Amino acid sequence: MEKKSIEQRARILLDGIIIEPDTADLLCSLNKYSKRTFIHCLNVAFMSVQIGYNWGMDSKRLIDLAKGAVLHDIGKIKIPLSILEKKGALTQEEFEQIKLHPVYGYELAMMKGYGNTVLDIILHHHEHIDGTGYPDGNKVTGLLQETQIVSVVDAWDAMTSARSYKPELSGQDAMLELTDFTDSFYNNEAVRGLRNVTDK
Ligand SMILES: [Fe+2]
Repeated sequence: MEKKSIEQRARILLDGIIIEPDTADLLCSLNKYSKRTFIHCLNVAFMSVQIGYNWGMDSKRLIDLAKGAVLHDIGKIKIPLSILEKKGALTQEEFEQIKLHPVYGYELAMMKGYGNTVLDIILHHHEHIDGTGYPDGNKVTGLLQETQIVSVVDAWDAMTSARSYKPELSGQDAMLELTDFTDSFYNNEAVRGLRNVTDK
């Protein structure tokens, strides 16, 4: 399928997802709390869904992927803004608090009744395939393809965005960095899927 057509399809799918009442509610709260995180979630969802289309996922999987991706950082609304928006490096203690956001997000999404794939994406988007991620680390087994896609795209979007404590990386440098961690942190196919979407 043409790249442009994939982008259009991803945008249309996402436009439908973000106006569903539960998702819209959560995203509204996130937008009010941290616009930067809200925009990050939209970016990650847009690219993740494109990868899903390229992989030939059926519509149910694409919808779950879109919901999980757009809500993956929803738990950050429970992290104090003094930590979330801190200018400068986090202390170890602050980082330990940040590491709780997948669990907070999982709890919020579970209360709204989201399905297993969406919950898995939210809870496990910071896990690595070598077990060095969080919150479960080496206790996690068999990450879903959907979760692995969001994990890679999340890292990419964070690397290519400027923060108060770091400049943004170019797309090329971010891809080199991701490639360095392929098969340790990130799934090889997901990295390739991302490269395909970002190669213009
Ligand atoms: Fe996150």
